Amino acid sequence: MDDTPKISTDEALRAENFRLNKIVKSLMNRAERAMSAGGTDFGLFQATVMLENQVRDRTRELEAALNENEKINYDLEREKEEQRKLYRKLEEAQTQLLQSEKLAAIGQLAAGVAHEINNPIGFINSNLGTLRDYSSSLLRLIAIYEKTEDSSDSATEKKALIVEMKREMDFQYLSDDLLELIDESIDGCARVRRIVQDLRDFSRVGDVQWQKADLHDGLNSTLNLVWNEIKFKVDVIKEYGVVPLVECIPSQINQVFMNLLVNAAQAISEHGSITLKTGCEGDKAWISVSDTGTGIPADMLPRIFDPFFTTKPLGKGTGLGLSVAFGIIKSHDGLIEVDSRVGQGTTFTVRLPVQRNIN
Ligand SMILES: Nc1ncnc2c1ncn2[C@@H]1O[C@H](COP(=O)(O)OP(=O)(O)OP(=O)(O)O)[C@@H](O)[C@H]1O
Ligand SMILES: [Mg+2]
Repeated sequence: MDDTPKISTDEALRAENFRLNKIVKSLMNRAERAMSAGGTDFGLFQATVMLENQVRDRTRELEAALNENEKINYDLEREKEEQRKLYRKLEEAQTQLLQSEKLAAIGQLAAGVAHEINNPIGFINSNLGTLRDYSSSLLRLIAIYEKTEDSSDSATEKKALIVEMKREMDFQYLSDDLLELIDESIDGCARVRRIVQDLRDFSRVGDVQWQKADLHDGLNSTLNLVWNEIKFKVDVIKEYGVVPLVECIPSQINQVFMNLLVNAAQAISEHGSITLKTGCEGDKAWISVSDTGTGIPADMLPRIFDPFFTTKPLGKGTGLGLSVAFGIIKSHDGLIEVDSRVGQGTTFTVRLPVQRNIN
């Protein structure tokens, strides 16, 4: 067995080479001295030559090892560069994945949002039609007032004309309804504005700005967006606590809320509830989304954050929601936890540092 100690670095190899050369030199000096002193110490001479040969061989081996080491270093450097390139590509792919998942979520929502906008636009349109009729009746009434003002007809005749007109247009009903229609329409416009605003907040694609955000605002506006999908089968219960502003990338955190809310709603088949709770413990804010849905079997729990893991039928789920949510929360130095009981429901809890950790 070769018991020569393994020399691993270039420096050590060079030092060893240097040391051996020195030994060779001193042995040759000794041999020369012995010969010139007249002695023919053949044993010493023989040993010297043998040693010299051994040292030469060893030097050659060391030189070869040195070369090999240099080559390995060069290969390692290239491999490292290759890895750096791959890592950059991976990062790009991750950003693209995040973006396309967000776009897919928006696509999924588009139909719901369109309906949500269409509905108020529909009744605003019909209200405007009625308001137009009301206005023309009122204008006719005013015209009668104006006409009777400058006519010489008797007061009784004037009154009779006005009473008749008012009866014809159902003045009492009209005056009650008119303001109601206007209020309803203003409300409808506000709803449309809010939806458009929420959608804009949500879809700010390139927005990766860290800022201090109110998590309740994010939860509320995301809830507005999914409302159309969930309102028929889900009661939403809000139990918001006191949460300071949290330093985060709000559009990404909203995406996490969206994925959790949609999952929760999809887990409820007939009718159930989603409870949103928030709070703050120490330097971490937390948000939990609980549903009374199907629950997740214990053997499935370790896989739900895996990309493309889905139990939903084709076209209904891609299996990316939770893996994207996990990535976002991780990049915020946070945690995402799950607690689930089959047949009872599931709670996802997100914990986020209130202050961003720059290191
Ligand atoms: N609240 C929940 N209740 C029950 N099961 C859940 C819940 N959330 C997630 N799951 C399970 O975890 C799986 C993965 O969820 P994930 O959000 O990653 O993908 P998906 O919902 O199937 O598809 P996508 O979100 O891409 O539309 C789901 O298919 C489902 O089986
Ligand atoms: Mg999902």
